[in-house]
Amino acid sequence: MSSLREIAESRSISVGTCVNYSTWKDDGDYRNLISEEFNMLTPENCLKWSFIHPEKEEFDFEKADELVEFARENEMGVTGHTLVWHMQNPEWLGEENFESEEVERIMKNHIMEVVSHYSGEVEAWDVVNEAVNDEAELRESIWLKAMGEEYIEKAFREASKHCDAKLFYNDYGLIYDTEKREKVHQLLSDLLDKGVPIDGIGLQSHFIGVHPTSEEISNTIEKFQDLGLEVRMTELDVAYEKGKAPEKLEEKQTEYYRKIFQAYLENGVKHLCLWGLRDSDSWINTFQDYDEKYSDRPLLFGENGDRKKSYEEVKDSIKELN
Ligand code: G3I
Repeated sequence: MSSLREIAESRSISVGTCVNYSTWKDDGDYRNLISEEFNMLTPENCLKWSFIHPEKEEFDFEKADELVEFARENEMGVTGHTLVWHMQNPEWLGEENFESEEVERIMKNHIMEVVSHYSGEVEAWDVVNEAVNDEAELRESIWLKAMGEEYIEKAFREASKHCDAKLFYNDYGLIYDTEKREKVHQLLSDLLDKGVPIDGIGLQSHFIGVHPTSEEISNTIEKFQDLGLEVRMTELDVAYEKGKAPEKLEEKQTEYYRKIFQAYLENGVKHLCLWGLRDSDSWINTFQDYDEKYSDRPLLFGENGDRKKSYEEVKDSIKELN
């Protein structure tokens, strides 16, 4: 029987998962399943600032290097996640009261160091992640405070100087939160008008307690494609509220997985990435706002690595592509 990866490759599609370094290091089954079933990976955490830039003058590339090496050995693409975010920043960044000019210098230096270190290895970067909040406004962060909205433009311009990777803006909620979608659309449209080098948008697809229709997914994809951007599906997981879970939860989830893949694929999306391998690996289980509230089976593989029905549906939806 063909693997998900084989089916995807036969249709020139990239399917990925995020990879947790510690699990990857300790668990051979995890490693094998990833290289067998996926042709793309995104390090889940180890490219984030607090891990890769733990002290002002210190970069720690070791863990991310190992994942990139694994990807190279297994002929997988790598998405770099992420260069500029409001979260998972190192303590030193907040501790010293840096002047605005210094914050800008630190951000640009970080981008230069990290992006050039992985030049030729990382195929696409999430340059700016989640810059807009749930109120559809620019999100408070050290970056916004120091540079205003221009930090976004500065980040993309700096990244483009040091690699040929595709440069993405990545965010959640854009499919079902219309106000946020409008804000991000306007933001990217303005940046593109100014000639800022943005290649695409990553639509994070954390469908946790909210399950947009195929039409909503398609409309969102088209809206950003109309700007000339490449659209990728990033960070997919599907979870239902525990109390409200439909009786046949797995069937419901399976059907929904098919719908999602069909909607993305029908709109020409070629890179699709899940946020985790097995149900037991999902961040949802460890996120305190979610672990009590949502079902703990959000992914395509069960905790023993067994292939769920959703996995088969996803494969079938890719097979249906001509
Ligand atoms: O590794 C440290 C460890 O040294 C420390 O002792 C421990 C104490 O809390 O924390 C460990 O770090 C954790 C890290 O994951 C690695 O396991 C952080 O606390 C924890 O907050 C972090 O969670 C990650 C979260 O992003 C924040 O960075 C999740 O694994 C990761 O799945 C999640 O992914 C995000 C995307 O990057 C952006 N979009 C939303 C998505 C889900 O929240």
